[in-house]
Amino acid sequence: MKKAARRWSLLALALVLLAAGLTGYVLWSGGDSGSKPYQDATRPVAERVADLLGRMTQADKLGQMTQAERASASASDITDFRLGSILSGGGSTPEPNTAQAWADMNDELQRGALATPLGIPILYGSDAVHGHNNVRGATVFPHNIGLGATRDPKLVQDIGRAVAEEVTGTGVDWTFAPCLCVARDDRWGRTYESFGETPDIPAAMTAIITGFQGDKLGGGPTSILATAKHYVGDGGTTGGDDQGNAELTEAQLREIHLPPFKAAVDRGVGSVMVSFSSWNGQKLHGQKYLVTDVLKGELGFTGFVVSDWNAVDQLDGQEGFTADEVATAINAGIDMVMVPEKWQEFLTTLKGEVDNGHVPMARIDDAVRRILTKKFELGLFEHPMTNRAYTDSVGSAEHRALARQAVRASQVLLKNDKGVLPLARGGKVFVAGKNADDLGNQSGGWTITWQGGSGPTTVGTTILDGIREVAGPDTTVTYARDGKGVDRSYRAAIAVVGEKPYAEYEGDRPDGLRLDDEDRQTIANLRAAGIPVIVVLVSGRPLEIASEVPGWNALLAAWLPGTEGAGVADILFGVGAPTGKTPMTWPGAKAHEPINPGDGQPALFPQGFGLGY
Ligand code: GLC
Repeated sequence: MKKAARRWSLLALALVLLAAGLTGYVLWSGGDSGSKPYQDATRPVAERVADLLGRMTQADKLGQMTQAERASASASDITDFRLGSILSGGGSTPEPNTAQAWADMNDELQRGALATPLGIPILYGSDAVHGHNNVRGATVFPHNIGLGATRDPKLVQDIGRAVAEEVTGTGVDWTFAPCLCVARDDRWGRTYESFGETPDIPAAMTAIITGFQGDKLGGGPTSILATAKHYVGDGGTTGGDDQGNAELTEAQLREIHLPPFKAAVDRGVGSVMVSFSSWNGQKLHGQKYLVTDVLKGELGFTGFVVSDWNAVDQLDGQEGFTADEVATAINAGIDMVMVPEKWQEFLTTLKGEVDNGHVPMARIDDAVRRILTKKFELGLFEHPMTNRAYTDSVGSAEHRALARQAVRASQVLLKNDKGVLPLARGGKVFVAGKNADDLGNQSGGWTITWQGGSGPTTVGTTILDGIREVAGPDTTVTYARDGKGVDRSYRAAIAVVGEKPYAEYEGDRPDGLRLDDEDRQTIANLRAAGIPVIVVLVSGRPLEIASEVPGWNALLAAWLPGTEGAGVADILFGVGAPTGKTPMTWPGAKAHEPINPGDGQPALFPQGFGLGY
């Protein structure tokens, strides 16, 4: 071969080898250049999922199915154990509890996920159930029972969008909302998380899912993953016992409690959380028929199912989860397990149940495929870090204005003798009651902390502040919590009373729903002055007031309005007219709980009742 020709052939060979080497490097190296199929956003999601699944080890897969609590897992734990998700339990916040600190926390944790060989981002979940309520300074909207009173799905969808903006700005990708429970017994501590006691209202309010996710998951920069919870029948337990037993025929379960979940699935909800409660004695977390056959089969749910907080541990009624409980829950159709603290033990247990064949690898692959599909659809692989363009939306004036509109729309006027409402401006008005000047009480549970709490727990306007603002400078507003000092010089007295914050089983009231002694005394002090008394009930549910209402001149159900208390004052002074309709039947007396439409019991106020001006 001539020298020159030989040189060219050597050069050609070198180029070929170099090209092959480069290709090999790129393919092998995890595709820093994003060249692996699963990293290519132009490919169909199903293709990306299949490619990624094929690259995952067993440890990768089991890690994806594991959700730990932020206080029990670090960024390096996420890297080492391939964790798929982290959550904030109620009130679990960075310090300081600011939007910026949340964003910084989430980005640090996400970097732990991106440091894994396959770089699968985590989902960070939090209970944004009436605003981004764990975050101090966030807009806190009315709880679901008040939103149910609005009967306005479009408003509720707008609220979902606003909440999604605040959630996005803190780096959170997933809200454990909406609760689609149908609360049938007002003594249940989660009644206020229900949009209504009949399935039509929660089903209509699944519009909030579109607010959270957008028309399709990942469709916009503030799309967050929503959760239909708690599947199914949590609001139908005997006696309103939280995490109790729903003793219902399948026909009753399907007629009353299933429709809101069908509506949620039809709206494309990305996740479903299983209920702590039982159906006819069997824990939902072990109910393969309902979780797999009905939800995933019959309803066609293609998202993923997440357990509730350590709920797998409850299956055998003993403390501490067991291999059998883990296998039962996963085989029932649970795809991701919320195991806040003992997630390492869970991973070891699940591995054992896969290795011994009790949990088929096909079930694992199905769970992981569902989880990855939502992560790809959400755009997490393309945008894993906080979108800081929305951080300033937390508690914004625009969102607070929307919340105030929602508060107005949620007010239900139940009594208005001689048109005492709306109040005119001018003259003297007396305000009393433990819930008049208490932001924490008017916000209720799931606010800054799990149980919520009294006092200035966050940023907002109390109902008293609102009264002062709306009544204007020509009106003298006097406040005394106990009502003492009122006299006939006042045109009217407003008693803002009701419940203090609670959440979940802490709010169960098996012994009845009467006003507390302080409230009854406050109202008595006001009535003694012989002037019109307007009662504003700040509560998470109907209360047993039938024997007292005759002595009141007006009654306004404010529910749990959240941070924008001026919305209540707007109705009291006629800035807006009351349009709310009670989503729950009000009991005539304690013996009447539970009371629901069509059960033939005499109601104080039937579902759908509400006066106007
Ligand atoms: C709670 C609640 C559930 C919530 C979860 C995470 O126990 O039952 O509604 O989403 O834990 O905080």
